[in-house]
Amino acid sequence: MIDIHSHILPHMDDGADSWSTSLNMCQQAVANGIKTIVATPHILNGIYKNKPKDIEEKVKILNQKIKEINLPLQILPGSEVHLSADIIEAIKKKEILTLNKSNYILLEFPHTQIPLHIEEILFQMQIMGITPILSHVERNLKFQQKPALLSQLIQKGVLAQITAASLCGFFGPIPKKISQKFLSEELVCSIASDAHNDSKEGRGSFFSQAVTEASKIIGHQAALNLVQSHPQKIIMNQ
Ligand SMILES: [Fe+2]
Repeated sequence: MIDIHSHILPHMDDGADSWSTSLNMCQQAVANGIKTIVATPHILNGIYKNKPKDIEEKVKILNQKIKEINLPLQILPGSEVHLSADIIEAIKKKEILTLNKSNYILLEFPHTQIPLHIEEILFQMQIMGITPILSHVERNLKFQQKPALLSQLIQKGVLAQITAASLCGFFGPIPKKISQKFLSEELVCSIASDAHNDSKEGRGSFFSQAVTEASKIIGHQAALNLVQSHPQKIIMNQ
């Protein structure tokens, strides 16, 4: 299985706080059946300024460490980009790392809103050949209040990722219910961990359980597609 959203690189954001935590997260991922993880540190104006070069360097080091302990796992470079006024300019200047350097970008909205003029910004990305994947859509307050807003964006070519832990009730009943709704309406392209640490009860521990939960709603093969064939296409830039 492939996880396209993980804060597994140390000292880059509010994710892993050490190489030891990163490696524990790798072990946890393998135990959950994951073979590939896209490392997606936050890029957030003024707070997290992770440059492509720095992300790639840490991915390289983590892959070396994984090899040293013979873990069957590969880490690919990426980022989770918070929507900002200068995002189009930053993409043009190649200051933002897309998912495995593909034409897919993992895009984060503020948790309580859908930004004004969002359709125009997404359209500009699409003109550049970039497909936005909206991260953890089930946790956004506006999508929770009006789920139809997501289907409107999906119809315009945007993709959506939900969080494994949400589907398993980790964030409470509302994100769980909204995740189930988005799955049943076929609005989801990927289930991902959004793991931030190595806690045994944390977000990283729900991946395989989430596939079971999704299977109850959309069937086993369709659930597998969200952690295998769909993310595979993303990282292969297809
Ligand atoms: Fe995230």
